[in-house]
Amino acid sequence: MTKTDPNIIAIDGPAASGKSTLAIHLANWLNYLYFDTGIMYRAVTLAGLKTGMDLNDEAAVTELAERVRIDVKPPTPGLGRTYDVTLDGQDVTDEIRTADVDAWVSPVSVYGGVRKAMTAQQRLIGSRGKVVMVGRDIGTVVFPEADLKLYLVASVEERARRRYQELMDNGGHPNYEEIAASMRRRDEIDSHRAIAPLKPAEDARIIDTDHLSIEQVFDKVKVMIR
Ligand code: CDP
Repeated sequence: MTKTDPNIIAIDGPAASGKSTLAIHLANWLNYLYFDTGIMYRAVTLAGLKTGMDLNDEAAVTELAERVRIDVKPPTPGLGRTYDVTLDGQDVTDEIRTADVDAWVSPVSVYGGVRKAMTAQQRLIGSRGKVVMVGRDIGTVVFPEADLKLYLVASVEERARRRYQELMDNGGHPNYEEIAASMRRRDEIDSHRAIAPLKPAEDARIIDTDHLSIEQVFDKVKVMIR
């Protein structure tokens, strides 16, 4: 780290706006920890789905969020992963990406008690510094004191196209319209919830990635940092 490098970099924005890819590039470049907070909300949602509980039951989901153990570790080699996620010791890295989790993760992320439990863990991880943390509320709530805040945006059409391509590349059979509809639903819930809604921090640098390649976005941010 040079003297001027930001210690905590917060990257927020809607689904498939390019946050994770940028964060991985930055973390590799700076030799920082990359941490995607969406994983935690997905893992809690999956835990709820597995128990068969009613996910509309805020008290029950909150109790679960306070109880489950979510671990994010370096990836098992050879599987093309960027990390391994375990839920109470069981590997759920692929399961947290299913359509069921996609459909329920935003409603679950509305609950104040769930957010409180996740935010506490995220602060613990981030307070060690040298971290690139990705989510919806990192610059506004989790680390309002972050040294650099980025907020990525892109049109829903472009974001759905990216997610479609990603699923195709992974051997799936995605439906573009369904992906776009699911993203619109999540954007709507995420931006309008009472606690920690998706929005740029006042001092965030906003980057529109619609017509930019990953390299172009990365180059822009490198210039901001050094
Ligand atoms: O990967 P993708 O961008 O589609 O979503 P994600 O980052 O995995 O986040 C999934 C969901 O978790 C979001 O739609 C939010 O509802 C919730 N989330 C949140 O509320 N706060 C965060 N810091 C991160 C995710």
